[in-house]
Amino acid sequence: MQVPKAVRVVEVGPRDGLQNEAKTVPMATKVTLIERLADAGLKTIEAGSFVSPKWVPQMADTAAVMQALKRRAGVAYQVLVPNLKGFEAARAAKADEVAIFAAASETFSRRNINCSIAESIDRFLPVMDAAKAAGVRVRGYISCVVDCPYEGAVAPAAVADVAARLLTLGCYEISLGDTIGSGTPARVVAMIDAVAHRVPREKLAIHCHDTYGQALANILAALENGVATVDSSVAGLGGCPYAPGAAGNIASEDVVYMLDGLRIEHGIDLAKLAAAGRFISDALGREPASKCAKALATKAA
Ligand code: HMG
Ligand code: MG
Repeated sequence: MQVPKAVRVVEVGPRDGLQNEAKTVPMATKVTLIERLADAGLKTIEAGSFVSPKWVPQMADTAAVMQALKRRAGVAYQVLVPNLKGFEAARAAKADEVAIFAAASETFSRRNINCSIAESIDRFLPVMDAAKAAGVRVRGYISCVVDCPYEGAVAPAAVADVAARLLTLGCYEISLGDTIGSGTPARVVAMIDAVAHRVPREKLAIHCHDTYGQALANILAALENGVATVDSSVAGLGGCPYAPGAAGNIASEDVVYMLDGLRIEHGIDLAKLAAAGRFISDALGREPASKCAKALATKAA
């Protein structure tokens, strides 16, 4: 299969990245980061999550972040919600889109959202009803699409089952999360092929953490297999608080550099994106995890 002509990059750094930072990032820094990402051309930005602050204290200020943001026309500011309480908070914060999140592994589901996979789907039903009534689009995530940190290898058929359920619920897109970043291209493609029997490929997104350095290879394999939406985090921020040892997402800068090389349209200004990555890395007191960002900085020096 050919790679797509255009790819939609979903920037998840302000949520997936910052949810896992030990250092508290001030609200104003989050706002500046999100505004700089929008300025760089990102059209979907996951700005935070409305989850229990006891479970993920780093996201407790999401309402304040959403209120303080200067919104840019044409940009969808998305937030993660685990239940109706989260959805109501997202509505109050005027989120453009919400994302629900399930897992393909029972143990991860319990550790992450304190319920079984089937219970999580039941919890999403009222969220979907409320979102439909409010005209809010809902994205669905699936964690552990390759391996689970607690159960090991996850069967592609199990991922396909959850994906089909999220599609039936009404999600416009299903993001397939290699939560612990252990996937390799052949396994990722086998998983995508299994899911594609139940969900059209154009409704799939790939969400790779880069723990084993395989994320970019996995993303390219996904692009060659009909996926045209890629999740990434500026500067490669983050990880998942309930996936011990997992690295951050693939860096957005690295994805954009690869897309440029493939002549795939994406609408993002790499220099501005790298500057946003440098800004948040400075705030966190470390180097960006993006090899591309580091190479660009060395070249410019
Ligand atoms: P629970 O303890 O079973 O829920 O947690 P509960 O309904 O019994 O509520 C417990 C307390 O939380 C109550 O407060 C509720 O009001 C409150 P208390 O009475 O104790 O003071 N609460 C809430 N507060 C704010 N917003 C809400 C909310 N809901 C309940 N929406 C729950 C269940 C789902 C709430 C909890 O497990 C939770 O918040 N989990 C979130 C975990 C999380 O955010 N994980 C990271 C994101 S997922 C991810 O990173 C993976 C992804 O990137 C893809 C990939 O890479 O795989 C998407
Ligand atoms: Mg993630």
